[in-house]
Amino acid sequence: MLRPGDHVVFPGDAYGGTYRLVHRVFGPWGVEHTPVDMTGTGDAQAALSGVRAAVRPGATKVVWVETPTNPLLGISDISALADLAHDAGALLVVDNTFATPYLQQPLALGADVVVHSTTKYVGGHSDVVGGALVVATGAQLPGGLGSPAGGTDVAGAVGFHQNSSGAVAGPFDAWLTLRGLKTLAVRMDRHQANAAAVAAFLDEHPGVTQVIYPGLASHPGHETAARQMSGFGGMVSFRTGGEAKALEVCSRTRVFTLAESLGGVESLVEHPGRMTHASVAGSALEVPDDLVRLSVGIEDVDDLLADLDRALS
Ligand SMILES: Cc1ncc(COP(=O)(O)O)c(C=O)c1O
Repeated sequence: MLRPGDHVVFPGDAYGGTYRLVHRVFGPWGVEHTPVDMTGTGDAQAALSGVRAAVRPGATKVVWVETPTNPLLGISDISALADLAHDAGALLVVDNTFATPYLQQPLALGADVVVHSTTKYVGGHSDVVGGALVVATGAQLPGGLGSPAGGTDVAGAVGFHQNSSGAVAGPFDAWLTLRGLKTLAVRMDRHQANAAAVAAFLDEHPGVTQVIYPGLASHPGHETAARQMSGFGGMVSFRTGGEAKALEVCSRTRVFTLAESLGGVESLVEHPGRMTHASVAGSALEVPDDLVRLSVGIEDVDDLLADLDRALS
């Protein structure tokens, strides 16, 4: 739907694959983007000023936000960004993959479109790849954009694109996703209880220089997260002070499996700089090389803590 010269304001800390799509695929089609720190590292006013400064009147059609972000778990204020996007005549699109609809409902906070990778928590068992777009009732395309289906209805335009371009789940994938969805609430309760325990444990560990988890009071987005989420989720990132140490930790865990992806019932560990976020190396979105990302599963929490303790020792 976007045309050459249209512009997207984009988080400076977004999932690497989303950045790759916007930068490497849509960029050559003439769609422009500006990465911005939408978290303000805890300073909500700084975050909003940055986004306001990046908006190009008449050209910006989408403000894209991911909260919490992958992998730095940055938090952005969805309702403030919705107001800002709407004042600029743009849509606010929220990638809600980390939070899930159980913990955060962006449409209720003013967003126009919500994106989920259903590969993650919604599917929940690391056995299906998929995605979902949820569109606010009545959302209209920003000024000047037309739907290939006719009119300016966002849902109609998205449905038309999906049907035309083939991004349609197979029946078995749809069945797996719906089966996973039935246990989303109980899984998330356990994921986040375990994640909170893991974050508290790492916070005390001498081999860890920083723990990043929105549930910790030390997280700069803690207050915003507490306001707009009903829980802090199952992802925890931490820094070790050196890349070699981070790689060593990733290779030494036994309960946490070294793997990309996230949100399944089993715990995973990865090194974003070398794995999920390798494609943003050298860009504004580059992640620290001593960062380790955990997708905390639903196993017995004592097994998880013992595994991390062993890997860090
Ligand atoms: C926040 C976020 N959005 C989108 C995606 C893309 O997901 P998929 O693997 O289903 O393409 C990911 C994958 O890690 C992600 O973390």
